[in-house]
Amino acid sequence: MGTNKKLRIGILTSGGDCPGLNAAIRGVGKAAILNYGMSVIGISSGFQGLINKEYIELDERKLSGILTLGGTILGTSREKPFKDMTDSKYALSKPELIKKNYDDLKLDCVVCIGGNGTMKTAYKLAKEGLNIIGIPKTIDNDVWGTDLSFGFDSAVYIATEALDRLHTTANSHKRTMVLELMGHNAGWLTLYSGIAGGGDVILIPEIEYKLDVIAKFLEKRTTMGKPYSIIVVAEGIKIPEKESKNTSAGHYISKSITEMTGLETRVTILGYIQRGGTPTPNDRVLATRFGTYAAELIAKKEFGKMVALQKNKIVSIPLNEVAGKLKTVPIDDPLVKEARLIDTCFGDEI
Ligand code: F6P
Repeated sequence: MGTNKKLRIGILTSGGDCPGLNAAIRGVGKAAILNYGMSVIGISSGFQGLINKEYIELDERKLSGILTLGGTILGTSREKPFKDMTDSKYALSKPELIKKNYDDLKLDCVVCIGGNGTMKTAYKLAKEGLNIIGIPKTIDNDVWGTDLSFGFDSAVYIATEALDRLHTTANSHKRTMVLELMGHNAGWLTLYSGIAGGGDVILIPEIEYKLDVIAKFLEKRTTMGKPYSIIVVAEGIKIPEKESKNTSAGHYISKSITEMTGLETRVTILGYIQRGGTPTPNDRVLATRFGTYAAELIAKKEFGKMVALQKNKIVSIPLNEVAGKLKTVPIDDPLVKEARLIDTCFGDEI
């Protein structure tokens, strides 16, 4: 048993949801209550709950049975209190309201579970004098300073399963299948799923593609007797501006390929399925490790930090080192090199 019996902490989940959020809430909450004797509240709908003072008391019983649940029992929102600082329905600015509610609720720390945007807000709140701990989550895996964020492994699993299924129907019909995946401006999800699911062409925002290179590559596959091809496209790849108003990256690539090669293509946009449902075992473990470590940091009063995974060790890094940065795929990432060795086309060269 720890000694910090009097500490009272809040937990919130902010930004797009992902599998593992409840596992992290459970990890923080159980360790805080059972090991460190703290009291814990769950703040509703991300920073909105801090602005509106909406929360629930979390006891051990409320934290039981949620490990495997997708989504977040606390709800989430994309509220950015430092972006649109005022709202006519409030007398005070949003950051002022947050500070006031933090004091009213007698909080000693708020654990902010989220992605890049959340870490930026978390840092700003820490600069305003609040005790904050960040926990990185996202299917995009683009939070700077951590090798992995939870949610990513589950999304890779779901996208890989989709690719496995696309292989069989592509083979039956001798078609070129295009699968568009999420990831925002980072290609991690597409790169990992593309490799795991045997994508022939992998297009990610970090590597500039040329349509004629993709067309030649697909034609080469046809002449080699390959009956079908799979193209995995990250939603964030660049497409011409006039196209981007009317169509998605996947549809643009599909249409262009058909025009250039005459190949029959079909598009699947996996969408929010990538973010829903139960977390994989690896995400449950990572979220639990992050959560319990966050409670440990609070007990040691080491605030203003984000928990992270570096070289398979759980560590913490100052929020000011994370805020405003994005972890994208380096173009010479070993995975890219290895994929090229098995003739994966990234659209830049054959
Ligand atoms: O950041 C997670 C993510 O799922 C991205 O991959 C995607 O671009 C975005 O969120 C979608 O956001 P929203 O939930 O606002 O539609």
